[in-house]
Amino acid sequence: MTILLTACGESQPSSSAPVGTAAPAASGEASSAAETPAPTPETVESTESAPVEPESQPEESSQSNILIAYFTLPEGVDAISGASIIMRDGVKLGNCEFVAKTVQETIGGDLFQIETVQQYPLDHDPLVDQAADEKSAELRPELATQLENLDQYDTIILGYPNWWADLPMPVYTFLEEYDFAGKTIIPFVTHGGSGFSNTVGTIAALQPGATVSENTLSIARGDVANCEETVVDWARGLGLN
Ligand SMILES: Cc1cc2nc3c(=O)[nH]c(=O)nc-3n(C[C@H](O)[C@H](O)[C@H](O)COP(=O)(O)O)c2cc1C
Repeated sequence: MTILLTACGESQPSSSAPVGTAAPAASGEASSAAETPAPTPETVESTESAPVEPESQPEESSQSNILIAYFTLPEGVDAISGASIIMRDGVKLGNCEFVAKTVQETIGGDLFQIETVQQYPLDHDPLVDQAADEKSAELRPELATQLENLDQYDTIILGYPNWWADLPMPVYTFLEEYDFAGKTIIPFVTHGGSGFSNTVGTIAALQPGATVSENTLSIARGDVANCEETVVDWARGLGLN
């Protein structure tokens, strides 16, 4: 059973964000400034320095030629900013994780979670500060999950949260670690108002040999809980199955 706890809101597919340019933000969304939402009422203990055992992914390997790779960092409920908490079978899912799993349930494919060796704090303020520091330092956090069967995939559906109007640094690591030349990358983002910012163009720049699809999906975090139909429609519309 899926339990969705959040305010209702709009979800928005960004149907044709041109590669190399900023994807348009939803109307009423902030254009590029990073958000610094208020601390969440649900305090989650930081697990900042606990290293993650390196492991190989994907979670459920198959013969599929579709890889659904995502980075996610579920925070607690944020009543002020509208951040959602999504529970499935008693497990808290991040926004991008929920979208990624919905895509996988709709069209199949292998799920791959981009995880870092050093875990991020789950408390909002230290997380926001750490992400800002990493962006300033152009840090490339070491990944704990590795892809071993890249040749198998023709299509990489890549999901990530907008962090400081940019890709999270671990997504830079991922895109610099693997060569997706000859493959198609289909980005989706969840965000607090900025949409994709310039991230689609950044992906194209980091993967010059890949085709970066214009059929992207952008969902505001306040809409994630009600986005299932939007995600299903988008996934089916990709024409991958
Ligand atoms: C460190 C950090 C920076 C963020 N910066 C932005 C931003 O610049 N623009 C924006 O719209 N949302 C920003 N957000 C909000 C996230 O993009 C949004 O909550 C997203 O849905 C989180 O997805 P996840 O649960 O899969 O991690 C930021 C969130 C965090 C934690």
